[in-house]
Amino acid sequence: MGFKEQINQDRIPRHIAIIMDGNGRWAKRQGLARMFGHKQGVETVHRITEAADELGIQYLTLYAFSTENWKRPAMEVNAIMQLLDRFIKDAKEDNDKNKIRYVFLGDKSGLAPILADKCTELERLTENNSSLLNIALNYGGRAELVYACRKLAERGGEITEADVSAALYTGHCGDPDLIVRTAGEYRLSNFLLWQSAYAELYFTDTLWPDFSETDLSAAVMEFSRRKRRYGGV
Ligand code: FPP
Repeated sequence: MGFKEQINQDRIPRHIAIIMDGNGRWAKRQGLARMFGHKQGVETVHRITEAADELGIQYLTLYAFSTENWKRPAMEVNAIMQLLDRFIKDAKEDNDKNKIRYVFLGDKSGLAPILADKCTELERLTENNSSLLNIALNYGGRAELVYACRKLAERGGEITEADVSAALYTGHCGDPDLIVRTAGEYRLSNFLLWQSAYAELYFTDTLWPDFSETDLSAAVMEFSRRKRRYGGV
């Protein structure tokens, strides 16, 4: 029996968010420069997007680049931006066959204007597609909360929790049920701070470039066994 058949279909997460960590270490282990780890990481993005869809996951959110990642050497930042550029180009070309809806979470104004425009174009092109892939790019959880607060302050009036949720970058899809982090680190690194309030967390030592369909299924299986109580009993 395959993994999919072993998972209780009533208990699969609707929305999975992933902190894709370990690209640099993967490259180092192969004796390669860090950027090769990111390149391989993009291959994993394609594989896992497909696998999540096959498992019946409705929304997938991937942490591609944080507001803090600009501190990395310029060469590495440039390599990641080039990979994103390529990724967007491929996504546009494959739109007819893939039917993925892309949404970028984060501050586009901090990106190179050409890249920011390409992100917006991809969002527009795919906005009526069914399976959602959020890509957190120039994203920080605290920056996101400040962005939402400003929007709400401008609007004025009463502010409820539902208003804050709706004003976040994830207003269109809500909170993740499961957050996965690869490569053996046990922290959220400024990812989805508000939205993670009741998320189940899953950590694995596997480096992102090695993260497979089986690893994703294992995370989903573990999730399906957990009891979520949301503060109740
Ligand atoms: C963490 O590994 C990974 C990143 C900061 C970048 C992730 C980017 C990609 C996979 C490519 C672009 C994404 C998309 C969606 C096209 P690390 O470099 O921190 O690894 P380390 O902890 O081993 O050094």
